[in-house]
Amino acid sequence: MGVFTMEMLRLLPFLMLLGSSALAQSPTYGVGSTPSEEEIRAWDISISPTGQELPPGRGTAKEGALVYLQKGCAACHGAAGEGGMAPTLLKKQAEPDIDPWQLGRVLPIRSPYATTVWDYINRAMPLNGEGTLTADEVYALTAFLLHKNEVIPEDEVLDAQSLPKVKMPNREGFAPLPDWKPGKPRLQGYPY
Ligand code: HEC
Repeated sequence: MGVFTMEMLRLLPFLMLLGSSALAQSPTYGVGSTPSEEEIRAWDISISPTGQELPPGRGTAKEGALVYLQKGCAACHGAAGEGGMAPTLLKKQAEPDIDPWQLGRVLPIRSPYATTVWDYINRAMPLNGEGTLTADEVYALTAFLLHKNEVIPEDEVLDAQSLPKVKMPNREGFAPLPDWKPGKPRLQGYPY
């Protein structure tokens, strides 16, 4: 083993020389291509809490209720947002209103920012049909789920301006625990 290592070390400068000259001789490997503006736009879909990246569009809870049925959300999440094979989208009735540790994983009530709900639906749903929703449909679905979770009134219009202003009940629930130390579980008392 020791001999092997010494041998390798002796060879190293030679190998490095080989590598660098090979690089110098072939500046391109002929694979891939510079992404087009369009390709970058298709990947660059993250929406931050400020919502500045949100596209134009609008939607209300009433419109969202229809989209929810038309786009097959009900097949996995249940007719009204719960009771399906996929996770429930509704705050459980038995859970206290604003205790962040009792909210479970239900995104449209637990997320600190409404823009995250929009982003999640836009990038990940409907499962197996990701990327097929229009911006209007995502605004409407977000409004529908936020209304069902009693975060916004039924007639509130969500768009690029109003969505970031929605005050989520769990807005402060993601603050670091004051007594947390490295090595200690962060989510003490949390069910998952
Ligand atoms: C084929 C089944 C299927 C369909 C159709 C579907 N979903 Fe989902 N959805 C899932 C699954 C499974 C998850 C959990 C994914 C995970 O945890 O990685 C999920 C997660 C979610 C979540 C996050 C839930 C949470 O609290 O963490 C939201 C919001 C959501 N879906 C909304 C929708 C909407 C809106 C539609 C319709 C446009 C839709 N889904 C269609 C299966 C589906």
